[in-house]
Amino acid sequence: MNHRCCLTALGVYTPEHILSNNDLCALVDTSDEWITSRTGIRFRRKMADTETTSDMAVAAARQALERASLQVSDITHIIVGTCTPEKLCPSVASLTAGKLGAGHCMAFDFNAACSGYLYGLSICRGLLLAEPQARILLICAEAMSRRMNWSDRSTCVLFGDGAAACVLSADANAPLAVLRDVLCAGDGSLGRLITFGGGTEHVRNVGDPIGEDYFLQMQGREVFKHAVRRMADICQEALSRNGLSIDDVDVLVPHQANMRIIEAVGDRLHIAPEKVFTNVADYGNTSAASVPLALDDALGKGAILPGQRVLCTSFGAGLTWSAALMEF
Ligand code: ACO
Repeated sequence: MNHRCCLTALGVYTPEHILSNNDLCALVDTSDEWITSRTGIRFRRKMADTETTSDMAVAAARQALERASLQVSDITHIIVGTCTPEKLCPSVASLTAGKLGAGHCMAFDFNAACSGYLYGLSICRGLLLAEPQARILLICAEAMSRRMNWSDRSTCVLFGDGAAACVLSADANAPLAVLRDVLCAGDGSLGRLITFGGGTEHVRNVGDPIGEDYFLQMQGREVFKHAVRRMADICQEALSRNGLSIDDVDVLVPHQANMRIIEAVGDRLHIAPEKVFTNVADYGNTSAASVPLALDDALGKGAILPGQRVLCTSFGAGLTWSAALMEF
């Protein structure tokens, strides 16, 4: 039996509308200088009012299928990582299957916030062990703008919308990449550091007002410290359990949340800055979609080449964190 987890193709979708830092100055008391110097973010995408999370998922999935030269009928599972589903039920995966005409697929969502892509790779690796014939569409789609408090300058400048998809299988002939290892961790005792509500925690009645807790709330400084420590530590763990050192890594693709976090993780890992891929300036933090959007961007720009070893890492609400080693 072949135990490989192969990435056949990536597909992406980002909404057309670009929000610049200056656009945000019209909404909250901020400045391009503050946002750029504290976060490295210059632009982020914002979905149209009529767009949904599954619309973005479908667009990314279609591109991945086209690039993989596959039909919808070839897919066996649709798995969506998202913390911003359009409804709690039906899942984004079910809605996506419906829109793609993939009613034969197993379809479900999971929520690991910004760690969604790497958690998804771990889920799919396990599925492919059990079902080597599976061809899985792993999609990460996030409608972060729908959960922003647009009067909270400490959060609304940080996030953007977008989606990315990939096809995973055990038997690809010429895969885009092979997943060598993936590690995932989480700790709900620190969950209060990043929250948004809208679940079943409180008894609600028809007509109740929406409170601030519906929107994303974050203790930025605390999150910053945990993000740096957790991502650096889990990367070290992934390297050492595979008998590798940071010198064996050609490209680091970290979660694109904040340039200062990315630089601090790079410093801790002692990796040369030119080996660290970033596109946070253009998209902000797109949560689960962040790492696969960055992978696709890096491939498009020639920053990842065939034969290279790539280390990915992510950190997000939960708290959750993870690392993955891939060979392109
Ligand atoms: N414009 C201008 N001033 C601002 C803004 C803004 N957009 N936001 C905050 N400030 C102010 C604050 O009010 C504060 O003012 P005060 O000193 O008068 O009280 C001052 O700037 C400093 O605020 P801090 O929060 O201490 O600023 P910091 O340097 O820590 O940067 C930031 C804030 C960018 C949020 C940083 O803490 C950060 O990046 N944290 C991590 C966020 C992250 O990466 N999250 C990823 C996971 S999210 C997920 O998984 C869904």
